[in-house]
Amino acid sequence: MLPKDQKLETPPEIFAQDQKNRWSSVESSIWGLKSESPEENVARSLARTLFDQPRRIEPRFLYDERGSWLFEKISTLPEYYLTRTENAILEKEAEQIIALAEVECLVELGAGFSKKTVHLLSQQVNQRGRGTFAPVDVSLTALIGSRDSVKQQFPRLEFHGLCACYEEGLLSIERSLPTLFAFLGSSVGNLDRSDFDRFFQLLSGCMGPDDFFLLGVDCTKEEEVLERAYNDVGGMTSQFILNAFENVNRLMGSNFDQRKMRYHSCYNLQWQQMEMYAVSTSDQKIDFPSLESGFVWKEGEQILVEISRKFEPHQLEQQLEYFGLESIAHCNDPQQWFSLLLFRRCSGRSQSGQS
Ligand code: AVI
Repeated sequence: MLPKDQKLETPPEIFAQDQKNRWSSVESSIWGLKSESPEENVARSLARTLFDQPRRIEPRFLYDERGSWLFEKISTLPEYYLTRTENAILEKEAEQIIALAEVECLVELGAGFSKKTVHLLSQQVNQRGRGTFAPVDVSLTALIGSRDSVKQQFPRLEFHGLCACYEEGLLSIERSLPTLFAFLGSSVGNLDRSDFDRFFQLLSGCMGPDDFFLLGVDCTKEEEVLERAYNDVGGMTSQFILNAFENVNRLMGSNFDQRKMRYHSCYNLQWQQMEMYAVSTSDQKIDFPSLESGFVWKEGEQILVEISRKFEPHQLEQQLEYFGLESIAHCNDPQQWFSLLLFRRCSGRSQSGQS
């Protein structure tokens, strides 16, 4: 007889047959890629963006253990309306969404602790009695939190967490299961224009005729509301953004010093996006010992850590048609601050936009 833990080492049916051997169990019911990028690659990719003009880092570096915890705190702040607004829409509309999306499996991209997703899971159990939940996230801390609460609340659901970026998750999922892909929380707003294109090309290529896609988007609105949401009085967002440099130091052996930087955020009206920066408060030499390289971060110079794009939902629905996605439902809160959009793969228009 196999010891209990050894049974966990066999990747479940949620993975495509040819992908199974790329994954191994990192925790009970949680899977990670066997060949996770070696630290050297992470250091190189970080250095590439830090030497860009203007300098920037990728937002995935925000989510180490402390970053995941800080984001959870942000999502409960009075200024940060996004999470509670989306949660209220989901609470009201989940029954209808799950009735439309007749699926066996829910794959949540960038799931975090999956707190809002419980509305969908509870409807899946009520309406179909069973199903599989596969959250994909780079944060193991968040996946463990999600697993513990989902398994306790929904013992009839299968849970398989994928500790990976969206792309790796999408590429590895078995395509024949009718699936609802969910991308909530306006995480789509954190993709820059080229990542956005890449993401939707990949998603639409992975979706079959029985699949659905649920997208949560933060809408354009008065600048003051947006600026308050990303610059809370308690300074939680500032800690969240600057904490990314602790993570970078850990991964690169660099010497960013939080005492010599401050947080700055602003709404860029032309690009419809909040921009979140770290600004150096004095000239400082940043070293990357593993790469035998470095740079002088000059006083007043900004490093872009995150963008958060805001959308006109109808225009977004039109745009996504050109990625092969047809909108089948659209829900808002009464103030129209946040939208939930449900799509399926459309047959009419090709990705190049021709009928
Ligand atoms: C995860 N993401 C959708 C958040 C946002 O609103 O863009 C991240 C965040 N950054 C600062 N506050 C929240």
